[in-house]
Amino acid sequence: MCGIVGYIGLREAAPLLLQGLKRLEYRGYDSAGIAVLNGEMRVVKQKGNVAALGEAVAACNGSVSGATLGIGHTRWATHGDPSDRNAHPHVSGEGDIALIHNGIIENHAALRTELTKHGYRFASDTDSEVLVHLIDHLWKQIPFLDFEGAVRQALTIVDGAYGICVISSREPEKMIVARKGSPLVIGIGDGEYFVASDAAPLIEYTRRVVYLSDGEMAVLLRDGFSVKTIDNITQEKAVTELDFELGEIEKGGFEHFMLKEIYEQPMVMHDVMRGRVRLEEGLIQLGGIADRLEQLREAKRIVICACGTSWHAGLIGEYLIEEFARIPVEVDYASEFRYRSPIIGPGDVMIVISQSGETADTLAALRLAKERGALVVGICNVVGSTIARETDCGIYTHAGPEIGVASTKAFTAQVIVLAMLALALSKDKSMSEAELTVALQCLNDLPDKADRILESNEAIRDIAALYKDASNFLYLGRGYNFPVALEGALKLKEISYIHAEGYPAAEMKHGPIALIDEEMPVVVIAPKDNTYRKVLSNIEEVRSRKGRVIAIATEGDEEIAQLADHVLHVPHAAPFMMPLLTVIPLQLLAYHIATQRGCDVDRPRNLAKSVTVE
Ligand code: F6R
Repeated sequence: MCGIVGYIGLREAAPLLLQGLKRLEYRGYDSAGIAVLNGEMRVVKQKGNVAALGEAVAACNGSVSGATLGIGHTRWATHGDPSDRNAHPHVSGEGDIALIHNGIIENHAALRTELTKHGYRFASDTDSEVLVHLIDHLWKQIPFLDFEGAVRQALTIVDGAYGICVISSREPEKMIVARKGSPLVIGIGDGEYFVASDAAPLIEYTRRVVYLSDGEMAVLLRDGFSVKTIDNITQEKAVTELDFELGEIEKGGFEHFMLKEIYEQPMVMHDVMRGRVRLEEGLIQLGGIADRLEQLREAKRIVICACGTSWHAGLIGEYLIEEFARIPVEVDYASEFRYRSPIIGPGDVMIVISQSGETADTLAALRLAKERGALVVGICNVVGSTIARETDCGIYTHAGPEIGVASTKAFTAQVIVLAMLALALSKDKSMSEAELTVALQCLNDLPDKADRILESNEAIRDIAALYKDASNFLYLGRGYNFPVALEGALKLKEISYIHAEGYPAAEMKHGPIALIDEEMPVVVIAPKDNTYRKVLSNIEEVRSRKGRVIAIATEGDEEIAQLADHVLHVPHAAPFMMPLLTVIPLQLLAYHIATQRGCDVDRPRNLAKSVTVE
């Protein structure tokens, strides 16, 4: 989704902005641009990637060099096609105000009509451009209004979501930023400030950051900054320390971020459990929810809300919490929950799951549940994200920055958090102390088992080569592995553009079986658990229709090799832990199929890493 960077200080702004935009590329974008103040406003923007923008900047014969204040943007089209004219920054008619915007201005059409009546001409099809003309208009119309006042006034008129960064040659020593629904973070340097839509571009310059909250606006000068609400009330903001290293947002020798992140999973599993799974004491310690544990145990019902891969983790969470904590659980797409008339209130608990912590629908669902009096628990990866801040309590996944657009390590971290939560809630309900100790041991053994699966990478690459030209894939699983089937199918379709569907294996004969012929690869997740025999029958059904079977099976299972075309083994584990192992070969299969088809796996078409619009 769109990315924002801004800089005010003493250094050359343009290279710094370009480097910042490179760090934001993973969010997904179709065009990019910068504006710097160099006496006058200089704008370079175009369709295409940041490297091409860099060349265009270099070709400007130095007109941007020397500038020490500027803004940069990567755009992901919502209103208006990806093109040079729709790229940000947008500028006022006289070219003296430049603005970048993330989000959607919902009343843009009415504002455009109104501004047109006042003689404004629009250079783009975007909703964002109305904002720059509106600021200009108000600044000119209202006596004694300054830059800050004009921006504030404009923000009271627009409806919708925004993260904005504005500069003007009329007041060339300042940068104004504001947010409502679209994240912004300010990096604090020495005589300089950085702004970005997430912390990735800031880490190489400073660890000290301030997160803006919704409805806040900041004015940045070289020697200080102030934060007020849009209603002009001064805010005291806490400075937070970033908790990741630069190396974590670089590829570290891997060809793609996605592959690096798949390989990081054993380490991430350790990190999520560190200090939380206390084997010697036979307990789970979750600091972020410790004060609410009893309230959670007493919940009438738990509703899990999320989107995409996080929703798949939520489905596994349902199985885990119902099995171990014996609390009824419902799992909802956040976008569906918020737009129906959901029944939720005091006594209910909502768990929201989000890697980015910024997903618009998930955020809206949590706000609705909070408003109705439910306790809201967050499972987020990005520290300080909006969802992490707005929930009543929560558990961080500690997976480190996830740059690849297809979520991998964040998913496994989410499932581990859900497993720890289910076990922490289980007290006195379903498990004896001895059973809990066995479960903790299973968790503890997990990273080594995940490591062993990665050794199959080459075998998986060879299987990928056989099926990379398939047009459709079917993924089947039962119980804990049904959500894994959904997740395997999602991974494949989003990065390879092959149509793929996930189903509970038993559902196959209620419809999808009609699709099976010799052209159809079917991935069957078939570990040795209580449904194993049933899944073998499902494989027989596929085979008898000449479908090609790729089975994910437990180590030592010889029987399945008689039925399947290919078998990928995972180590033996308790059924509730299996999704954390069976998902890994599916991530690798999707990765290799996509790369062998020549797809850009880190930046799949049409996809954004952080979906901050509805
Ligand atoms: C798929 C993927 C998406 C996200 C979804 C929710 O690989 O990454 O489906 O899971 O957009 O994002 P978060 O977890 O950031 O709320």
